[in-house]
Amino acid sequence: MNKGPLSLGAAVPLAEVPADYLVVGVWENEPFSPSIAALDARLDGDLTRLKESGDLTGKALELVAFPSPRGIAARRLCLVGLGKIAKAGRAELHDAAAAALRSITGKRYDRVAFALPDPSPPLPLHETLLACAVGAVQGSVGPGIRKSDPGRFLPGTIVLTCPPGTDVRSLEPAFGRASAEARALTLARELVNAPPCDLFPQSFAERCQLVARERGFSCEIWDEQRLRSERMNAILGIAQGSDRPPRFVTLRHRHGGDRGALALVGKGVTFDSGGLSLKTNEQMIDMKCDMAGAAAVLAAFQAVAELKLPVNLFGFLPLVENLPGGRAVKLGDVLMARNGKTIEVLNTDAEGRVILADALAYAAEQTPGHIVDLATLTGSCMIALGTEIAGLMTNNEAWGERVRAAVRRAGERAWPLPMDEDFEELLKSKVADLRNAPPTRYGGAIAGAKFLQQFVGDVPWVHLDIAGPAWADHDSPARDPGGTGAFVRSLVELAHDYAATD
Ligand code: BES
Ligand code: MN
Ligand code: ZN
Repeated sequence: MNKGPLSLGAAVPLAEVPADYLVVGVWENEPFSPSIAALDARLDGDLTRLKESGDLTGKALELVAFPSPRGIAARRLCLVGLGKIAKAGRAELHDAAAAALRSITGKRYDRVAFALPDPSPPLPLHETLLACAVGAVQGSVGPGIRKSDPGRFLPGTIVLTCPPGTDVRSLEPAFGRASAEARALTLARELVNAPPCDLFPQSFAERCQLVARERGFSCEIWDEQRLRSERMNAILGIAQGSDRPPRFVTLRHRHGGDRGALALVGKGVTFDSGGLSLKTNEQMIDMKCDMAGAAAVLAAFQAVAELKLPVNLFGFLPLVENLPGGRAVKLGDVLMARNGKTIEVLNTDAEGRVILADALAYAAEQTPGHIVDLATLTGSCMIALGTEIAGLMTNNEAWGERVRAAVRRAGERAWPLPMDEDFEELLKSKVADLRNAPPTRYGGAIAGAKFLQQFVGDVPWVHLDIAGPAWADHDSPARDPGGTGAFVRSLVELAHDYAATD
């Protein structure tokens, strides 16, 4: 197993940190801490002069590089603005570390050191370590997977150095979590960025098998024939238009004794052309991202298994390609899902909810304590909440609040949408139990969630519509374009919460 680049360094003065590049965070509107003042003294007051001239303000994501500093052990130095200390949470630290590493990994460096902020923000030190470590790795890995010149270079080592006086050994468990979470985030991004010629239902399922073998959790793969005998006709129906057969993957990590299980369900459409309700080129161009829910679930399993968290975790991944082939599902076709409910297909581009119908019904049959599904389900959710915030819909307010709290702690963003009963009008079909696409565009994200709710029975369930946050169209200082690994951090946080309480 590749351990990844992170390592935990000793608590030594900043001027003594040996590195090809040393990255130091600076707070906005704060005097230099004793450790930065000591660094400044070794640099003959360079930092003070930059501060006085207004070139070093500490504003969030500000970058100031010293290509050849004299008087310190590091060969290069970069200062990154951390923003206001009172406002700093995991998201802000993650982004600062990501922006700094993104700015320097265009060149090849063997050893990069990232100094944990001093003074510490109003967060436990283990959370500061987690956010900085995961952000640093995220910023170091680019999406140029098929470029002859990758343009970005993952450092051989990213050392996290602690403020003076830290009991570094007490941070080792937190460091273990940080490396596992960073590897998981990288895996999810890699899977979402992989081209659909490489990542299709079979190859995705094989990748699940590989991760499961390496990390020691169980992985069961159902092929077409098994899907038929298991009455998963909703998945089979959507897959019909493609020459690539579907797969259904079940993951199990059982380390929670006889306690209830947390079931994670991820939409795995490896390419969404829309089917016969074909998307335009513009709408289709990024639709390799339509398996981001499934990628987040596999990545969370990888982290949870590496950490041997004492939790029972199930994962269910319906994997299909949605294409308009000669045998493709047609408008007016009716499919019977695993739980016996019939679905009239009136728009083949509303395929996610159809495959999730079978997956959620199967998940509910396993009687887990709780279910969370993650799906790039609707463009409507992006109309409602923009590209950075996921929609959160639930059949159980208490479970919804608990998931929402975990998402917030992880530094990610989700916002509740209502699930009032009258939205069920939108699901009525003239010929079947349900129609897959509502008759109006209004309330589309809620209509999607209401459809899914028909398949979870009375298990407490949360649906996260991640169509916006799963994919970045453009780059920004802290982030490369492409797959973002959205909700991997939240799922790892939720699994920790589940391990501690359920
Ligand atoms: N995969 C799409 C949703 C999507 C859109 C994800 C944009 C990421 C970015 C989904 O399968 C879809 O096409 N949904 C339709 C549903 C409609 C036909 C009821 C949509 O949102 O338009
Ligand atoms: Mn679609
Ligand atoms: Zn889709």
